[in-house]
Order: sequence, then structure tokens, then C-alpha cells
Amino acid sequence: MKTALVTGGTGFIGSNFILQARQQSWANIINLDLLTDTCNPHTLAELGHDAGYAFIHGDIRQRKLVEAILEKYQPDFVINFAAESHVDRSILSPVNFVQTNIVGIFELLEACRAYWQNLSLDRRSQFRFLQISTDEVYGSLSPTDLPFTETSPYRPNSPYSASKASADHLGRSYFQTYEFPVLTTNSANNYGARQFPEKLIPLMITNALGGQPLPIYGDGLNIRDWVYVEDHCAAIFLVLEQGVVGETYNIGGNSEITNLEVVTKICEILDELAPNPKHINSKYTDLITFTKDRLGHDRRYALNCSKIKQDLGWEPKESFDTGLLKTVQWYLANSLWLEQVQTGAYQTWIQQNYGTLEYKSAK
Ligand code: DAU
Repeated sequence: MKTALVTGGTGFIGSNFILQARQQSWANIINLDLLTDTCNPHTLAELGHDAGYAFIHGDIRQRKLVEAILEKYQPDFVINFAAESHVDRSILSPVNFVQTNIVGIFELLEACRAYWQNLSLDRRSQFRFLQISTDEVYGSLSPTDLPFTETSPYRPNSPYSASKASADHLGRSYFQTYEFPVLTTNSANNYGARQFPEKLIPLMITNALGGQPLPIYGDGLNIRDWVYVEDHCAAIFLVLEQGVVGETYNIGGNSEITNLEVVTKICEILDELAPNPKHINSKYTDLITFTKDRLGHDRRYALNCSKIKQDLGWEPKESFDTGLLKTVQWYLANSLWLEQVQTGAYQTWIQQNYGTLEYKSAK
């Protein structure tokens, strides 16, 4: 069986990827993760004593550590999920984004390039480095613009997306300069199980269940394309196995929708599955509030995914409605997971980002 080094595998997309990889016996997995405040360290507990899974606590910037891991486990793939990923946090404090997303990938690329150069010719030709990136690097669309393609120019607008764009450029340069086998995926907004409740969907579910306001930035008409995390992971397997080195692939969900519609749909599902027992005659939509807009808030993201469909035969299986229902059901069934992440650090973040905002009820 192949071996994959997954960085940031305790985070949202990484953990879903690891669970799928182990369920399908796709590869043995080494998970290098720093366990920052924005992940649940118990998220992969269900792997138990799986002999095909190893966890290493550490930072991708620790080049010596990464070198030792590569030497010991001899991976066939390195998949870089490790990133600071929340736009709002990057606005309040960009420094970690530069450190993890830019310096981090540089250190990782250097360690991996040295390892790859010393592999046998056969193993060298099979080795792949996959950079997990985002559609945010392309910037923002107007309502009538065509969706981004893989050749759209990079126009990042937040410190977060600028750091991801920088990482993508470093990856590209290692392919162009050293022929190091880098591939890059640029995905739309992910949603699904195990997402930290600072992002729109899990934040709204958490707040609604706690009877807290549902804070919508600006007019709520910003549009995102949503891809269900398990569909995203299925695309990653294909890119690793059949993708062309040096190429980039867009991964979207064919699900463009405004934030207000997203939150309304969540409320409707919760009204059905978990009606608030204390307020018989009220609906979760009563909690919707409008707040000051996010600085530099991108208006619309949309991805043209015909390349991955044509070249690798990938298409999302979930519609937004089916995926959202599964997502809400997962959070309702996993209240312990949600409790575990609502630590002091989480409360501090909520206070920092929302504590001083003025709320205007939607009613
Ligand atoms: O497009 C891919 C990107 O999607 C990923 O690269 C990022 O890591 C991921 O965080 C996400 O970025 P967004 O900024 O689109 O995601 P977020 O969940 O933070 O916000 C989604 C939309 O909802 C955005 O228009 C801002 C809005 N929003 C978000 C929060 C947290 C609100 O209106 N209120 C909120 O409290």
C-alpha cells in the first residue's frame, strides 16, 4: 500500500480526507499537525489504534522534523492541508497567515524536494506533492461575470487569500524550476462534518442551537459556491492518481447561493429537526441579524470545473440541499464534538470578532 504524508490532517478538510483514505484502504497516513486552537484534537479519535495511521504533533516550518518524517516513512504523496484558513482572523491578525501559509509551504517544499531528489528513478516519477488551495486566490466576481477558470489571473483581496496565492506561486515555481511534481487544487467553500464553528455554516448551526444571534455581514447577498467536503476529498484522490504534474484543478459544487439563503436554509432544517423547545411559536430565522460588513468582503466566488470533469471524470455528488441536510444532522448527532471545540480560546475569538458589532434584527 502507498503512504501519504498529510499536513494539517486534524483540521476540517484534512480529517475528512484521512477518514476516507483509511476507510477505502487507499494509503497509510502520517498526519503532521500543529493542533492549533481552530481544530478539535479528538476529531480523528474514531481511527482508534488503526495501524495504518500515525499522528505527529509538529509544525510544517520545522524542516528538520519534516526531513526526519520523510526519511522514516518514505511517503509516495505529500498533501499540504496545513493552513490558517479564516478570512476574518487574517483581517484582525495577518502574521500567522504569512508564517504558516507562506513560510510553512516554503519549508515543506524544501524538505520534500531534497527527499524526492534522493528517491530511485521509479519512485521519483510516482511521487506527488499536492497543494490544497482555494478559489479566493482569483479575487471577486460581479454577479454577471463568468466563473473563474484555471487560467483566471490571481487577484487575492484578503491577507488570507494573498498568503494562499503566495503559496500557490511557490508551488508552481518548484515545478517550473526543479520539475518537482507539484499539483494544485483550488476549491470552493467547503462544508460538512467536523468544520470548526468559526466558518459560516457551523457558526450559524452553533449559534442557533445556543439561541444566539445569527450574524450576517453586510446585506447578506454575497455569493459563495459550496462544495460538500466528501466530494472535495473524492476529487483529491483523483488528482493525486491521475492529475498531470504542474497542473491546477478547480473543484466546485455547482451550488452558488447567497449567504442569507444559506442561513435561512439552515434555520429551516433546524426548525424541522430540532425545534427550539423553549420558544414554541418562534422560528430560528428570528435569530437572523445583520452586522457591519467584513472589510474588503469579496462579493462573489464561482468556479468553472469543466477541466476536472473532462480530464479526470469528477463531478460533485451532493447538491447543496442534500449536503446541508447531512451537515446539520452531523452537528446535531455530535454535540460532544461541538462542546469540545467551544474552549476559552474559541470564546475569546467570538468576543473579538463579534463582541463590538452592532446587531440589526432582520425582522
Ligand atoms: O472559497 C474558499 C474559502 O472559503 C476558503 O479558502 C476559506 O478557508 C474559507 O474560510 C472560506 O472563505 P469565506 O470567507 O467565504 O468563508 P466564511 O465561512 O468565513 O464566510 C462565508 C461567507 O459568509 C462570507 O461571505 C462571509 C459570510 N459570513 C461569515 C461569517 C463567519 C457572515 O455573513 N457572517 C459570519 O459570521
